[in-house]
Amino acid sequence: MSPKSSPQREVFVSRGAFIFAAIGSAVGLGNIWRFPYVTYDNGGGAFIIPYLVALLTAGIPLLFFYYAMGHRSRGSAPLAYRMTHKAAEPIGWFATGVAIVIGIYYAAIIGWAGSYMFFSLKESWGDNAEEFFFSEYLKMGDPGISLDFVPAVLIPVIIVWAIVLVVLLMGVQNGIAGFSKIFIPLLIILFLALVVRSLFLPGAAEGLDALFTPDFAALADHKVWIAAYGQIFFSLSIAFGIMITYASYLKKKTNLTGAGLVVGFSNSAFEILAGIGIFAALGFMATAQGVEVADVASSGIGLAFVGFPTLISEMPGGAIFGFVFFACLVFAGLTSLISIVQVPIQALRDKFRVSNKASTAWVVGVMAVVSILLMPTVTGLYALDTMDAFANNLGIVGSAVLAIIVVAWLLRKMPVFSRHLNAVSSFKLGPIWMALISITGVVLVYMLITQIIAYATDGYEDYPPLILGVYGWGMIALLIVASIILTLVKWPKKTIDDMHEAIADSVAEDNLRNETKGV
Ligand code: ALA
Repeated sequence: MSPKSSPQREVFVSRGAFIFAAIGSAVGLGNIWRFPYVTYDNGGGAFIIPYLVALLTAGIPLLFFYYAMGHRSRGSAPLAYRMTHKAAEPIGWFATGVAIVIGIYYAAIIGWAGSYMFFSLKESWGDNAEEFFFSEYLKMGDPGISLDFVPAVLIPVIIVWAIVLVVLLMGVQNGIAGFSKIFIPLLIILFLALVVRSLFLPGAAEGLDALFTPDFAALADHKVWIAAYGQIFFSLSIAFGIMITYASYLKKKTNLTGAGLVVGFSNSAFEILAGIGIFAALGFMATAQGVEVADVASSGIGLAFVGFPTLISEMPGGAIFGFVFFACLVFAGLTSLISIVQVPIQALRDKFRVSNKASTAWVVGVMAVVSILLMPTVTGLYALDTMDAFANNLGIVGSAVLAIIVVAWLLRKMPVFSRHLNAVSSFKLGPIWMALISITGVVLVYMLITQIIAYATDGYEDYPPLILGVYGWGMIALLIVASIILTLVKWPKKTIDDMHEAIADSVAEDNLRNETKGV
């Protein structure tokens, strides 16, 4: 039988191209600004324990799970779910919707980082980086919804979307893999230089002490475990359709589990490196100001856009350091954003059988317009923060919960996935892998329920109900309704026939390979 799935389907020409693209997707804003503050906020050194537990028991096993889904069916997220069962399709659309939401705000953060590359050269923030960021740059108003645009933010956001459009129009191999092949090595070299520079700053050791001194009491706090799982999923780019989509572009005989291990460990290595570099730098800042590291380690967005500028002003050679740091954020962010946007592009192509270029133009066009309407305004930060919290804590976790409950538990697809992965891969998976997926399912159900109750009772960040209702609950409700409506649209017969053929082909090949290997 022939492997054809769709005449338009693209491929990564080699496993190396795929690994670059997958690392490009994984290493992103999540590694550079999110990981250090999440670690610090959740028990410092002790956080490494739940982080590694989440990586090994949930992150990597789920990475294999999604690779199996995408590679076996050679389909986008909705199609891959559709091929497990008709009723599972909305999960694929929901994951695609989460990717769209993440992409909409992710572009804005890359835009800010782009502006800050140039602000660094002149240290434009003067002596109050906090006031500069919130009041002068973002021109943040009171919480609400407004179309009062901020041109200094609008322009970089438009540029980010223009770059994304150009790269994605070049296609999977030349665009996505080609872009990652250039920018990932560049990112690694530049970032290593930053980390080494940070380690030689006076006070670096204090920063590392703050990061790695374990607060073991934190391990008893369920929020710390939730944070670890959330960080791993966001960082590995799982549960929002990316890994299904990327695996669908792989050739039939590809060592999937081997690639997954390379991607998973490279991502975490980069993440821990980022933590070391950033806390060494914060140690320097605390020493220079004669305060504790805790006093300079502000959280989240503040760490990159308030903490770092203050640091840049204080260190010798700060302008160049700052330029390179924000360039790293831009490179890491762009290689992730293109992977996020490719999820709806492929979904649209599969469901409506449009060409790659048409699908790319539509998806990037619509996402860019929404991103431009919501983000570069005086209330954009509220939208961004709320969408980020709800998309991560409810969207990503919800998508993973549904995948495990429906595909693993109800449809019992794990043995088929394991046969598929084992037929093509070096590292074999069996009962332990299946058990880990089930345990992860139980943990995630608990996390999701806890989080829904927390948001419903305590809200989020004291934001008014309008903000939470529109960008939080409203956004999640919209994703659910849209997932159901899109599922009701009939698939083109040719797509379904192709998919059945791809699956039959995979099964035949898996049987043959497993028999040959005596599995
Ligand atoms: N995996 C990407 C990141 O870490 C989304 O930012």
